Amino acid sequence: MFSDKIKNLIIGIFLMNALCAINFSEDISPIIYNNCTVCHRPEEIGAFLPLQNYQDVYSYRSAISYVIAGDDDTRHGNPIMPPWLPDREYSTLLNERYLEDEEIQIILDWVQEGASQGDPNLEYPMPNYVDGSNIGDADIEFAMEEPFLISGNFQDDYRCFVFSLDNEEDIEMSAIEFEPGNREAVHHAIITYIPHGAANNLENEDNQYGYECYGGFELDTTTDLIGGYAPGLSVVEYPSTIGRTIPANSDIVVQVHYAPLMHDAEDLSSINIFFKETAIEREINQVIFDDWDFYLPANQETTITRDLYVPNSVSLVNILPHCHLIGKSWEIYATTLQGETIPIIKINNWDFDWQSFYYPEYLLKIPGGSTITAKCVYDNTASNPNNPNSPPETMFPGQGTNDEMFFIPIEFIDWQLGDEDIYLGDTENCLLPGDMNQDLTLNILDIILLVDIILNDLVIDCSDINADETINILDIVLLIEIILE
Ligand code: HEC
Repeated sequence: MFSDKIKNLIIGIFLMNALCAINFSEDISPIIYNNCTVCHRPEEIGAFLPLQNYQDVYSYRSAISYVIAGDDDTRHGNPIMPPWLPDREYSTLLNERYLEDEEIQIILDWVQEGASQGDPNLEYPMPNYVDGSNIGDADIEFAMEEPFLISGNFQDDYRCFVFSLDNEEDIEMSAIEFEPGNREAVHHAIITYIPHGAANNLENEDNQYGYECYGGFELDTTTDLIGGYAPGLSVVEYPSTIGRTIPANSDIVVQVHYAPLMHDAEDLSSINIFFKETAIEREINQVIFDDWDFYLPANQETTITRDLYVPNSVSLVNILPHCHLIGKSWEIYATTLQGETIPIIKINNWDFDWQSFYYPEYLLKIPGGSTITAKCVYDNTASNPNNPNSPPETMFPGQGTNDEMFFIPIEFIDWQLGDEDIYLGDTENCLLPGDMNQDLTLNILDIILLVDIILNDLVIDCSDINADETINILDIVLLIEIILE
């Protein structure tokens, strides 16, 4: 049994917490720093609104209340922040960004109650954001040959850059990572490979580095997408013997979407390629589930529905639904021979600015004989603020800003027994269990943070001290015992 000393300490800590009014240091800072600051800090995509300390968060408190709880889901999903397009009730995807209902409520209550700071010493530590690669030392790194100049004219810019790989042998990859040079400007990027030299003529189109490209890469050949970048999402390494091969004599092309900026800036991004440590036994394939045979009459919504037959069982690795500006929503699911539905992804409010590869948490089996159905709704009316034509005009498929697309790259491997247990995300990242503030010592501050985490139902690295997959009073007791020892 626990000694009375420990019991009293625990009761004391709980009481202390219960009696204190909601305050920034103890209650709000962990939520903001764990969910928002990754983008809302200098030199990141949300730099215009830094959320790095009490003053910042206090001064934007009403905007924050609105974006985390607003129910008019016009952009980026619902709520607006943190941005996450897919419907979380439809399917579960890797690295979902969201606040728990209790977290939203406590922020709203805090603002309502006057948004006090509390004891600055108890503020949650800023997570360690890594500079450079998110997954370690790359086997090949290339940087852009020269910086690309982004003019501060508050316009989007779509630019393709060619990286000459010219590899003599095939490259077996475990991951490919796009590392933005200017994170404030780079909104997203997609990566493909092409035969060496195939984009040379495009590169000479204008006198700036790279070439202009909007819907794709402007290439004659269809190409496989092998990677991408979107703010706040880190690269996924293919697990176990699964990987992707870049054939010999290739170049890499990346399309970068630069977000509108008010000031001139430069970008010098790079690409990191990671080799597979053991030979690839299961090569990833890609199918492009697309359609170029449709039109979208003016002044109406049109739903395009297409099916893709899956002859043999596969495990889905990732999917990237892609359309342009008048796209409104997506729903993609599989139907098995037995009539069972496997939901894959649903996006209720498509946003061209926030596209990404989506991974299931575990390899997702689609049994042979299934049909994958994709539905995209396009809103070609004048009431769609993103409509590029005013008044609306009939639109056709194509790569330009005034064209639409129905384009879904899907990465998959042939299914094997046990695939459904292969997790695609990072495993937990903790050097010292219980070290909540990551200062590499265990002390009373860690206990206080852990109590807070439990009271606020948060899940944070290092908090499951007894490794029973739940974070509760037993973890606190264990932490106290370790500290008292
Ligand atoms: C993945 C990056 C990212 C994350 C995570 C993120 N934001 Fe944002 N946020 C942005 C960007 C980019 C904008 C700029 C507006 C846009 O693109 O809609 C923005 C806009 C905002 C705005 C201004 C809204 C407006 O309409 O101008 C607020 C307030 C905000 N975010 C708060 C938050 C809060 C609070 C969190 C955490 C709960 C959060 N954000 C998480 C990227 C992010």
